[in-house]
Amino acid sequence: MTGLRKSIPRVAPKAYEYVKSVLDFGFHNAHSVGMTGRLERQFAQRFGHTFGIAHCNGTATMQSALLAAGVGAGDEVIVPAFTVFSTPAVVLQCNAVPIVVDVDPDTWTMSVDEVRRHITPRTRAIIPVSICGLPPDLDPLMQLAKEHSLVVIEDNAQCVLGKYHGRIAGSIGHFASFSFQASKTITCGDGGILICTDEDLALAARKAATLGFKDLTVKPGNTAVSEQLRCQPDYQRHDRLGWNQRLPEIACAVALAELERVEELAEMRSYSARAWHRVVQDFSWLVPQKTPDGYENAYWTWAARITRDDIVWADLLSTFIELGGDGFYGSYQPAHLEPVFANLNAAVDAAPDRYPHFAGRLPRYARGMCPVWEKIQPRILMLKTNYFDTDDADRQAEILAKTLKRFN
Ligand SMILES: Cc1ncc(COP(=O)(O)O)c(C=O)c1O
Repeated sequence: MTGLRKSIPRVAPKAYEYVKSVLDFGFHNAHSVGMTGRLERQFAQRFGHTFGIAHCNGTATMQSALLAAGVGAGDEVIVPAFTVFSTPAVVLQCNAVPIVVDVDPDTWTMSVDEVRRHITPRTRAIIPVSICGLPPDLDPLMQLAKEHSLVVIEDNAQCVLGKYHGRIAGSIGHFASFSFQASKTITCGDGGILICTDEDLALAARKAATLGFKDLTVKPGNTAVSEQLRCQPDYQRHDRLGWNQRLPEIACAVALAELERVEELAEMRSYSARAWHRVVQDFSWLVPQKTPDGYENAYWTWAARITRDDIVWADLLSTFIELGGDGFYGSYQPAHLEPVFANLNAAVDAAPDRYPHFAGRLPRYARGMCPVWEKIQPRILMLKTNYFDTDDADRQAEILAKTLKRFN
């Protein structure tokens, strides 16, 4: 790493300038200063695709991708057990069936063997998640997708500038989805972007994000139909069903400014990750997420697993905080164990006629479905990497070292 500044501002200085230009221009129905277009073009280019479609968050992006890919009632979409609930939720939201598969025991990303084992004639898509910042094993997944005509949507909400065998994560699937939510590397508070290269898919996603307006195009920033068209009383506006998921121009202005310093943001995350890593090398009972050769982890968070049975997760947290640490997070529940699934199973059992697309097709979501992740999940620590001053990261690492010594 070269040239990392010791400290960087929380918000890109350019964001103020870009937001001011939006405000100075004012708000008009079909004109703008072009921040959405600039964000869409530059983001797609930076992440190896042609088209970008800004969205109001990184869940909406995947709703659009699934709709654009034609995924609908009763279709199956494969998702990993270790993810934020957005990933299975979008599948249910288009009335399709989430098939939750187990993860690799060391990287905690989607297991390729499990994906292969769960493909059926009804499978339409796979959503591999770059969890904590680590890309999954994408080449064999793309090969499976090719063999079975599946669409791959990379969920890269947590992976900004991660790499997979020399390629930037996000450039490999048919679509990639990113989030600009407040904890993410590029943020404007809330927001997201979907990128892809196939023009038909891009146009379908654009329409999915904007109420299916007939005359929208894939041109960057084309999120509104022209006044000449829309003022006509006989103009038929909508030729397909879509959500309404646009990202406001002001938010695009902030996201653009953050994108323009993305290397610096990513390097700050890596700096913190290296600081945590140095500490745990002396403690064999805390095993970090494995980054295999040929991969670069973008470290949205730095995660490790407690392997000693006598150490209680909550005791580690309280000691860390007591010594001045910032705290850490536990992992989300395995996706299939969130009560929404058991409730859905019960609702379908009680009234199968109301859910014809799920009746007889929904798996029984329960413990035992993904034993690898179910065993590891309660023992995970997720440490912060969003320090904007290297001294803060170093100080926190020292506190972690003191904490761990108490348990040795
Ligand atoms: C892996 C993953 N997928 C999807 C999302 C959803 O993003 P958003 O909160 O912008 O909808 C997030 C972020 O919370 C995430 O971490």
